[in-house]
Amino acid sequence: MIENLHTWLAIRLMLLCLILALVIGGLVNYLGSIRLDNHVVDMAKEETASYIGQVAAYLQSPSPQALDNLNRRIHAEIERDHLIIVEFYDTDSHKIIEAVKPNAKELEARLPKHGSEFAGKGGIVCTKLALNGDTYMRVFVPLLNSSGTKIGYLEGIYHAPTEIIAQIKQQTLWSLILVVLVIFATTLALYPVIIRMNRNLVAYSNNLALTNIGLLKVLGSAIAKRDSDTNIHNYRVTLYSVHIGEQLGLANTAMKGLIKGAFLHDLGKIAISDTILHKSGKLTDEEFEIMKSHVLHGEDLVHSYDWLKDSLDVVTCHHEKFDGSGYPLGLAQNTIPLSARIFAIADVFDALTSKRPYKEPFSFAVSIEIIRESSGSHFDPDIAQLFMDHAEALYTEICNDEEALLHQKLEACIIKYFEE
Ligand SMILES: [Fe+2]
Repeated sequence: MIENLHTWLAIRLMLLCLILALVIGGLVNYLGSIRLDNHVVDMAKEETASYIGQVAAYLQSPSPQALDNLNRRIHAEIERDHLIIVEFYDTDSHKIIEAVKPNAKELEARLPKHGSEFAGKGGIVCTKLALNGDTYMRVFVPLLNSSGTKIGYLEGIYHAPTEIIAQIKQQTLWSLILVVLVIFATTLALYPVIIRMNRNLVAYSNNLALTNIGLLKVLGSAIAKRDSDTNIHNYRVTLYSVHIGEQLGLANTAMKGLIKGAFLHDLGKIAISDTILHKSGKLTDEEFEIMKSHVLHGEDLVHSYDWLKDSLDVVTCHHEKFDGSGYPLGLAQNTIPLSARIFAIADVFDALTSKRPYKEPFSFAVSIEIIRESSGSHFDPDIAQLFMDHAEALYTEICNDEEALLHQKLEACIIKYFEE
């Protein structure tokens, strides 16, 4: 189970790592892109700001001489800036001055045209443009006079410096790598923690199972003490049942129910009076009806505890018979639960081969003959045949063992089927 857990956990943690790296990496990349845009916007605003005062002064006192001076200053300044195009418009969107770097003529022709939509804007508007693999920022800045009235606007095309963009992109890449490494390291650190937690959980679960098994033994012993002073019958019928169940290839969960049921099959006898339970002679019809009620008393006791519910098939149906003549429901053939059909053979075989207050033990040969005669009437014929095929070896191995040895064998069964 632990080996499976390692694979299971490793696959899920890798998937989680990948998903987190994609989501958080995508977020880091997005934030890096915003940071780059903001940086370009800030630089574009900063460079355009140096033109604002000059143009605003001209627009308040326009003259041909002032326009000529302004034109020269702007053409001189643009050569030193990262702005490649600077244009000034009045409030009617009529161009007043334009300065375009020689290498930006082609770019200017490709720029999307704008109408008067920026003339009415009160604040700075920036639009990112990506042309020929380069990043440009188109900036519209309102021009205000000394009283704050808008008298025109500036349009600037800013070419973001390649080295700064590369630097910001590299910073974003490093951030991305760092995030992925942190996620990977965190995932690696989580792996042993989860494995350890699971081990603790399995240990706790095993302790709980052992506690429940202890309770099972106590209950089984309680009724054995009333019936026969020893646990031997319970041990033997459980071992016989487990052997048949294994031959039939029962699943682990079914085996657990079978073992619990074998241990608790006669739990309901706790509700039967000693007078009837210990009567040495034959029971009257009325007494037998009372004795038959032990399966329903057992069902009442067992069904209230979830951990014991899978024993109900055996507890309730272990006196049903294959031909429908059993009790309490008169079930027949395959309507009788498989575990109950298995247990019925184990229970009767052990009763036949054991000493009871009213009889000496029958020999193996006589007991097997009775099982054979009852095949198809009392017992499922297929299971009876399977049992008879292995009965001699089982009888030799189990029937004459001391209680302590049987207990050891039963413990081995419990470890095999109940410990995860
Ligand atoms: Fe019984």
